[in-house]
This record gives sequence, structure tokens and C-alpha cells, in this order.
Amino acid sequence: MVRGGSIRSNFGETSEAIYLNSGFCYNSAETAESRFNGEDPGYVYSRYVNPSLKMLEDKLALLEGCESACVMASGMSAVFASIMCQIKAGDHFIASRVLFGSCFHIATKILPNYGVEVTLVDGTNQDEWKNAFKKNTKVVFIETPANPNLEIIDIKFVADLAKKNGACLIVDNIFASSYSQNAFDFGADVVVYSTTKHFDGQGRTLGGAVLGSQSFIKETLLPFHRHTGPALSPFNAWIIFKALETYQMRMERHCANAKKVAEFLENHAKIQKVYYPELKSHKQFDIAQKQMKNGGAMIAFETIGNKKTCFNFMNSLQIIDISNNLGDSRSLITHPSTTTHSNISLEDQKKIGINETMCRLSVGLESVDDLINDLKNGLDKI
Ligand SMILES: Cc1ncc(COP(=O)(O)O)c(C=O)c1O
Repeated sequence: MVRGGSIRSNFGETSEAIYLNSGFCYNSAETAESRFNGEDPGYVYSRYVNPSLKMLEDKLALLEGCESACVMASGMSAVFASIMCQIKAGDHFIASRVLFGSCFHIATKILPNYGVEVTLVDGTNQDEWKNAFKKNTKVVFIETPANPNLEIIDIKFVADLAKKNGACLIVDNIFASSYSQNAFDFGADVVVYSTTKHFDGQGRTLGGAVLGSQSFIKETLLPFHRHTGPALSPFNAWIIFKALETYQMRMERHCANAKKVAEFLENHAKIQKVYYPELKSHKQFDIAQKQMKNGGAMIAFETIGNKKTCFNFMNSLQIIDISNNLGDSRSLITHPSTTTHSNISLEDQKKIGINETMCRLSVGLESVDDLINDLKNGLDKI
């Protein structure tokens, strides 16, 4: 994490330089020709890749233990490109029903507009998964744990089905984080990230990444990515690259804090329900034990009362900020029903277990005692 992927220039800098350039010069027209026909592997244009992006791609591939990575301008551009680069009108797409609002929009609005047949399944129901596959199923997309309710899907079960049916399984590993889960170990073909979250970890940049085999990235993703242009800024790539040097230490603290906060919430009289993968009360605790290294840094919970009670609690927090982002050093709380998932009708929210007293908490790096006191004081006000 500290040294992987680094490129040191002739100047011998200790910390990596930022390659904030859009184009490259060639010493001859012949060199330009051979760069474009692939005989010379050098750089061509920063919409394709540049040294700052390459460093980040190589470090992420090392972290995930896969062959290749392609970084992009946001998590959503990574999600969208990973699907669109391999699907066409007439193909069939399956996704688990509990999805981040923008992923849900792609599945239910954008893909059908492009002539793709879509099936949404209850990600925890094995029979629904078995019945969902068709001859033309091309791509399967899951979030596990899912945003916002931390529903957990058995990656190996879905990966085996996808393999048997010749479909590509994409796992959105953002809620889990790379520290807590390696989806490739359980058969994922492609893993996507929003680097905006714990990889940056300090709320500064937007970014995304698609990881997979060299052949997938080179032959399937890059032709789509290079010609549609969701390129990451080299400056953002540098920030994320430098942040990864402390990733493991930060995640240790995020996850240890989250576990303690989840245990505190579970025992509080004004909390109805807590969703955290490392709590025995989690419905898919056994699957979490099998495929996650720890419970991660995200918690969902429901307060007693109604929307107003829940808003009063959120408004009375002094340390934890109200924000729809996640994966920051600062603890952030959001009300999914009215923010991140507000594009989903209340009726559909109900089907996926989002209700008016559900909060989603991204646990930060603060002192855990301060966080627990803040939550306790807020709950006392209910
Ligand atoms: C599960 C999930 N997927 C994708 C994204 C999109 O990431 P970005 O905001 O970097 O586009 C998010 C962001 O919250 C997310 O939670």
C-alpha cells in the first residue's frame, strides 16, 4: 500500500509527482503512429491513461489481487461503464433489488430505454436467483452489503449461477470496502468501486475504478472507456493514490469504531433495529462470516417513532454530520428515504426495507467514545 504502483521520474522525488497534462509529444511521426497502433506501449492522451492514473490503477490492482484496473471520474461512471461496455439491446440484465439510488436508476430507467431486458431479484432469495436467468442473460450486478440496509448476498452462490449461464458478475464492493471483502475470492468477474469513499477517505475527490482480468479491461472496457471519456483527473488520481498509503490503518479504525457503535445502538431502548454484518442479529450473519473479513464501516439503524422523531434525533447530533456521502474520516449520517434513495418511490422503498426512521451511518475516525456520546445525547432527546 505504501510503495506499490509508484513511478519515480528522473528527478528522484520521494513522493510521487503529479502528471497534470492532457497530451503527450512524440519525437517523430513514426513514434506517434506506433503509439496509436499499439506497437509502442507509451502514453497517448490523458483521456486514455497517464502516469498519475497508471500509478493508481496499478496500486488498486495490487490491493485487490487482480490483473488489471481502470480508474474513472466517479463511482457511477465506473458502474455505468462496467455494464454498458458489454451489454446491448436484446440482452438480459439481472440485479439485486436493494441498490444505491443511482444504480437503481441505471437498472430500471436507463437500461430498459436502450432495449435491455431487466430483472430485479430479492438478493437473499436463492430460488429467485435460480429462476431469473435466461438464455440471453449477459450481466449480473449486485451490491453486497447493499446500500442502505446492508443486506448481504452470497457472492459465491450468484457467481456459480452466473458462470453456469455464461453471464458476467459485477460486484459493487463500495459498501463493503476492499479492506473488509474481496469479491474476486468468491468468483466475481468484475469489481467496481467509488474511490470517492474510503479509498480517498477524507472527502476531497470524486473517483471510481473497475477491476478485473486483463482481457476484460483491455478488450471489453477500454474501447468503451476511451471513446466515451469518463476520465479521472490526474490531480484526483494523485490524491487517491497518496491516500491509499494509509488505507489499511484508517480502515482498521473505521471498522473497530463501527463495531462498537453498532453494539451500542443495538442495546439502546430508542433504537428499533440495527443492521451491521458483524452482529449476530443480522439476517445474513452466516454469509457475512463466510465472505467478509469484518463488519465494515457502515451501519444502518431505525429509531423508534416516526420521520419527525428521526429528524429530531439527526438534528441534535453535535459531532456526526448530516451528509449523503460516506467513507469519510468524519462520521456522516443520512436519511436514505429522503436523500440517497429518494428517486425510488415510497412503495418500492418499502419493498426493500427502507422506512421513514432508517438512518445510515458512515462511521469515521473520531474517538469512538465521542461518537457514542453524541449518539446517546441525540437519542436522549427523542
Ligand atoms: C453502492 C454505491 N455505488 C455507487 C456509488 C457512486 O459513487 P460516486 O458517488 O463516486 O459516483 C455510491 C455512492 O454513494 C454507492 O454508495
